Amino acid sequence: MKPSLEMIEKWARHAGQMAKEMRGEDLKVEYKGDADLVTRADKAIEAYLLTEINEAFPEHGVLGEETGIHQKNSAHRWFIDPIDGTLNYAHGLPEYSISIAYANQDGLQVAVIYQPEMDEMFSAAKGRGAWLNGKPMRVSKIESLIDSLLITGFRHALLDTPRSNINNFIHISRKAQTVRRLGSAALDLAYVAAGRAEGFWEIALNPWDVAAGILLVREAGGVVEGLYGEAELLEGSVDILAANPIIFPQLRDILLEVRDLKA
Ligand code: IPD
Ligand code: CA
Ligand code: CA
Repeated sequence: MKPSLEMIEKWARHAGQMAKEMRGEDLKVEYKGDADLVTRADKAIEAYLLTEINEAFPEHGVLGEETGIHQKNSAHRWFIDPIDGTLNYAHGLPEYSISIAYANQDGLQVAVIYQPEMDEMFSAAKGRGAWLNGKPMRVSKIESLIDSLLITGFRHALLDTPRSNINNFIHISRKAQTVRRLGSAALDLAYVAAGRAEGFWEIALNPWDVAAGILLVREAGGVVEGLYGEAELLEGSVDILAANPIIFPQLRDILLEVRDLKA
């Protein structure tokens, strides 16, 4: 049996239902860092997804945000973020998602990002396309930065470092229509794939934040690369840039220029 979209969409929908139900209860918030929270829902959803994957594919490797690596297997790897946007979730904001991706030796194969509060299922399968609630989705056709809605994010742990991303934010805000900070990197990427945003960049994300979104954007006709040219996006710390193919080089040029000024 091969992992199918139908299967992971079902898991994501169930996970989304769990997130919505648990919102009304005590979330038992714990702190992993100053602004890095984990709730009872993050843990319960990760446990649920691990059980489903292990039952269906006991040999496969899984990397989950809350429990790390299970069963190293470089030929079959899953990336799961049980709740991307936990801070929003814990504060009662609707902008959060469940992100699930599967990769084999040939790279990412199937992926979903589910937004439970809007009941939006973003999905993609390698070579077959990308969909929003079953309808094909494409990146936008906007050609100029001044007409572009862009999205970024900031890691709390980086705010006092030269990699804070704040200079990038200031420079790009002057050239784009606007730059938003929404709080779920997975959804940010899904919105680029759906053509709602022209581009997204962020520094120091993790593979579970971006794996599903990378496949979504590429299958929707967009470009995703390491922000500073890095080839590896599924291991270690990830600096990422994703955009429609016309905006991508324009955004990359400014980001590289700003980094040079800062270095
Ligand atoms: C976070 C979100 C956020 C991004 C952070 C991530 P989490 O993931 O994706 O948008 O700015 O860097 O850590 O902790 O909510 O799963
Ligand atoms: Ca995340
Ligand atoms: Ca998370």
